Amino acid sequence: MAGITFLFTGQKYLAIFGALYLGLVCLLAIPFFQGHALYLNSVRIPLFSDYATPEKYGLAPNRTLNLKIRTSDNETLGAWFVLSDPYYRSLSTIPSDVSKHVKFALAAGPVVLFFHGNAATRAFSARVRHYQAFGSRLGASVLAIDYRGFADSTGTPSEAGLTRDAKAAFNWLVEHGKKPEEILIAGHSLGSGVSGQLGAELSRDGITPKGIVLLSPFSSIREVLETYQMFGFIPLIKPLSVIPGALRLVQRLLIHRFDTLQAVPNITAPVLIAHAENDWDIPHSHSDVLFEAFLDPLLPPVDLALEPFSMSESLWLKITEQQAARKAKRGEIVSTQTLPKFGTLQSFSDKGRKVVLVKTLAGAHDYLGVQEGLVDIIGKTFGILV
Ligand SMILES: *[C@@H]1O[C@H](CO)[C@@H](O)[C@H](O)[C@H]1NC(C)=O
Ligand SMILES: *[C@@H]1O[C@H](CO)[C@@H](O)[C@H](O)[C@H]1NC(C)=O
Ligand SMILES: *[C@@H]1O[C@H](CO)[C@@H](O)[C@H](O)[C@H]1NC(C)=O
Repeated sequence: MAGITFLFTGQKYLAIFGALYLGLVCLLAIPFFQGHALYLNSVRIPLFSDYATPEKYGLAPNRTLNLKIRTSDNETLGAWFVLSDPYYRSLSTIPSDVSKHVKFALAAGPVVLFFHGNAATRAFSARVRHYQAFGSRLGASVLAIDYRGFADSTGTPSEAGLTRDAKAAFNWLVEHGKKPEEILIAGHSLGSGVSGQLGAELSRDGITPKGIVLLSPFSSIREVLETYQMFGFIPLIKPLSVIPGALRLVQRLLIHRFDTLQAVPNITAPVLIAHAENDWDIPHSHSDVLFEAFLDPLLPPVDLALEPFSMSESLWLKITEQQAARKAKRGEIVSTQTLPKFGTLQSFSDKGRKVVLVKTLAGAHDYLGVQEGLVDIIGKTFGILV
């Protein structure tokens, strides 16, 4: 008897869960909710942030300028400019007006333009740790912005809007004397999508930044939806595949695409992609996909088997040969290095442009970029190690 009751109760919960799930998916089809679910910009962590006092979040006294950046469509973005450690330490006294030091800090050392992931603000502790790691191990000053609709910035987030915000931040550094080719762009998670779009746009305008670092990136939002697992084990939209056409419908309704994979052929800057193997939010296979996309134009093509189950023997042999040739060429171009207890590093150069893929064992989704080993690899790759 107890068993049957249990079964009955189980079915009831399953039905409730199913209804909630379908409700959630329907909500996501509505642009307003889709935007909120993707950007999570109304999650303002830390709560009641005091952006004017970065000291509260662990940064040294008067090391950080809290500033506003105006975008080309007249939104106002909240941002922090954090002086590099070597520059801050070189001052004999604590500065009384940080704004007077921006030009000198930019002239004295490297700069990282940082684009954060979804939810929370530039004051979030995991992000502050990135500014600290770049400031100390790279000796770099950091400009970190909050996109439109986030933190104390005006406006509502959108893909085009965030790309505009990124360009405004890039221009701010140029206006303060930094050469475009000396700016290192680093984007984490959603920020990697923003960096990819900015990278493609800069290339289109003939501008080559120092490099683009993609931390815990995704190949496209569509792929994230397909591979995302809540709590690491409940697939988000995979169950929809039992309803014919439902999966395709959800993908069609996707407004915010951030398709970095599509942007890859347009990006001409050097690129470093990094992903932790224990990232439960975005699987590290996304980074493999991006690295292979950068590599693809350098490898011989392989014919598609249009009818794989009725292939002729000659076609099969031809494809097998092509695959072997592609693999051999890949082995020739890509150098692979195992870093014991830390991870693996793959890289190749094409006409002087370097592309690097780092897979780390630790760091998960949020703390990948603060690992000293990774920051050092970033420094070596772009020649900015203190
Ligand atoms: C830009 O926005 C500000 C307020 O945020 C407003 O005062 C100003 O008139 C706007 N300028 C333009 C060109 O729309
Ligand atoms: C920090 O800057 C403020 C002005 O913004 C100044 O009043 C204060 O004295 C400075 N702090 C220190 C420790 O010098
Ligand atoms: C890449 O460049 C092509 C041709 O210039 C353009 O049509 C396309 O929109 C660009 N894609 C991205 C993602 O920038």
